[in-house]
Amino acid sequence: MELIIVDDYESLSRAAADWLVEAIREQPEAAIVAATGATPMGMYIELAQRRFRDRIDTSQLRVFQLDAYLGLAPDDPRALFRWTRRSFIQPLGITQANVVRLAGDAPDPWEACRAYDAAAREVGGFDISILGLGPNGHLGFNEPPSPPDAPTRVVDLTPESIVSNACYWGSEEQVPRQALTCGMDLLLAARRTLLLVSGAHKHQILHRAVEGPQTPEVPASYLQLASTVTVLADRAAWQGM
Ligand code: PGA
Repeated sequence: MELIIVDDYESLSRAAADWLVEAIREQPEAAIVAATGATPMGMYIELAQRRFRDRIDTSQLRVFQLDAYLGLAPDDPRALFRWTRRSFIQPLGITQANVVRLAGDAPDPWEACRAYDAAAREVGGFDISILGLGPNGHLGFNEPPSPPDAPTRVVDLTPESIVSNACYWGSEEQVPRQALTCGMDLLLAARRTLLLVSGAHKHQILHRAVEGPQTPEVPASYLQLASTVTVLADRAAWQGM
């Protein structure tokens, strides 16, 4: 696990964009799983600005959605697919045919999880995984406790996730209580991972994730065992102030 500490959120976003541009240059047909949440948004804006300037070839990239609220149509304002589409898929010009959605609105959500796993298997797993760190240590919606072999599945959100996600949608009542998440098994098998962590409020969970024991109580702690992981954090997150 490589740990890079940068001064602030702007530096983190630039460094993260550099990391991904380099990874795409090395592997233009990479299968990418990309997080929503506040943390990667600066990176995505940076990437959108650089797409033409740096001539990033995104035509062959394949993008997998990381997580989805249960029961929301893809165009619901709260749908995480809509967020991924607006912040990552569209600005990077990724074609619809190269996008794999985790269908939270499917009549049988468990079947949707199996279809997602099959699509991930078909491309040989993820080449690149871009993740944020939940305040409770979750990756995607792999809520604690999540063992490293937890598959793609339907989960109950923890009260902590409901509170932290309420800030995106106005109130806790707006946050669905269940979600679909890409499994720990797929995330930990990604060939490279970028974990982005920003802000003093992530200080304790960041240290538990990178230095603490590997435990289902902190799902991100299993990244210590994963193949090529870069943790990019700002000083506020690392130092807690
Ligand atoms: P955040 O969310 O980037 O908005 O802090 C991270 C997460 O909950 O996974």
